[in-house]
Amino acid sequence: MSYDVIVIGSGIAGLMAAIEAKGEGNSVALMCKGNIFKSNSALASGGINAVLDENDKALIMEHISDTYKSAKDVGNKKAIAYLCEQAPHVIKKLQSYGVLFDRDEAGNILQRSFGGGSDKRTCFVGDSTGAAIIQVLIKHAKEVGIDFLVNHFVMDITTIEEYISGVVALKKVDSSVSVYPAKSVVFAGGGYAGIYRGFSTNAQDCTGDMLSIALRAGLSLKDMEFVQFHPTGFAKTGYLVSEAARGEGGYLINSKGERFVNELGTRDVLARAIFEQMRAGQKVFIDMRHIPKETLLSRVPSLYKSAYNQAGIDLCCELLEIKPVAHYSMGGIESTMCETAIKGLFACGECAALGVHGANRLGGNSLLEGGVFGVLAGKKAREYVYNREFLPIDYRVVIKNMGLVERIFEGDCSKNFNAMRISVGKIMFDKVGIYRNETRLQEAFDYMKYLRLESNTLHCVDKSKNNNVELISILELRNALELSEAIILSAMYRKESRGAHFREDYVFTCKEGNRHVLIRELQKGFFKVQYEESPFLRWLKKILT
Ligand code: FUM
Repeated sequence: MSYDVIVIGSGIAGLMAAIEAKGEGNSVALMCKGNIFKSNSALASGGINAVLDENDKALIMEHISDTYKSAKDVGNKKAIAYLCEQAPHVIKKLQSYGVLFDRDEAGNILQRSFGGGSDKRTCFVGDSTGAAIIQVLIKHAKEVGIDFLVNHFVMDITTIEEYISGVVALKKVDSSVSVYPAKSVVFAGGGYAGIYRGFSTNAQDCTGDMLSIALRAGLSLKDMEFVQFHPTGFAKTGYLVSEAARGEGGYLINSKGERFVNELGTRDVLARAIFEQMRAGQKVFIDMRHIPKETLLSRVPSLYKSAYNQAGIDLCCELLEIKPVAHYSMGGIESTMCETAIKGLFACGECAALGVHGANRLGGNSLLEGGVFGVLAGKKAREYVYNREFLPIDYRVVIKNMGLVERIFEGDCSKNFNAMRISVGKIMFDKVGIYRNETRLQEAFDYMKYLRLESNTLHCVDKSKNNNVELISILELRNALELSEAIILSAMYRKESRGAHFREDYVFTCKEGNRHVLIRELQKGFFKVQYEESPFLRWLKKILT
């Protein structure tokens, strides 16, 4: 089956891109590896940031300024301005598709405070904002005629010279590998914070498949060291305690009952402050006992229920223990306004490094980024395919992936891939977590290198071709290990502390460090890491050639 545009990923970025790419007559498919309702966007709780009045330039400037400040000097000014200026339009678009944001009695959209924001600008649907948006977008995408290719695990892309020509995917239903020719492809398949398994708010399979595909296609990844730790996950499970809890007035207190930090600071600062308390032997809790029950039930109903069901805690009168957990990856595929170095391949959402979050994302800006840049990527894909032909497929990539699947099915194996996945999460959190140093990073790197070799010898115990969970887990683990190396090498390369990347051995923020770290895989297991060239050097090189 061939398509004008194939979008990979079913979160807000993918759905917005697919709808936009459809245009008048394009054939568009949206591919995702599982259930279409399951994405990080659907889990995003607290809301989406926007100044609602597109003519209020002063308030939009404040949104730009908060976002840039939080990015710690590695944000892209043009991309941030675009994000904040487009925000009111995206909210209108979402409303026109049917999203019902919470409103006050006069019918105005309600907005709550989020950390690092100088104003209340987070629009919400209770504390299930992402799920509400995704349901509406799926319905709309169906109505406009997008084909949904669910349970398709994308393994690689095919290119001819520097042009995209297709997508190689494994159908879970029978484990067959097929190629889908496409004139344009949009990557919107999410980030890699799920690698921190057991210490992450993400779905377990959110481990950055798109980024490892990008590495194998020769693209660079940018700023992989910037992993955001959400200050508040359930202490036992890592399940997200939405920032909405603090936005609605919740406090953070330690075992002594003391507040120790401004709850509406940025996430990097809060995560470290909480971690410090924990290192000093304190437990940390979210305290919402002073908030009326009616408010809890109307503003954070999902959290209220989850606290009760998962931890047996009644937030009206009890404290809920929390801990910081990996939540979001600021790093991603190097892209400028959604364009990658491969022509016809666009990237948006968490898998792309578009420069809007820099070293530290503001809460509420991720759904916004997915919305704004999903629309842009879809629009660019639609324009790109106009009057363009399909390009030849490089069948070597298809055959390579068929061979890989065959090898995983053949042979015996007593190794437990699940235990490996869990240990990757633990080592990443312990050694590549909130605090980092050279020794621990090196230990983590050595361990990942060892596991990467081991992962080549993993085989399915269950040989059934029908929806084989082991096969997908092994493929995901291989991708996750490739990316873990990229994260660690980038973290070692950035010898300073900035935003979410904190080095105990380089606690200062270095003036010359306001540059991006780029990493490429020259051949399997051999990476090249370097700082991006300064704009001046790029300009100089351009005029000299
Ligand atoms: O805490 C939250 O509700 C998460 C929001 C976000 O990451 O943007």
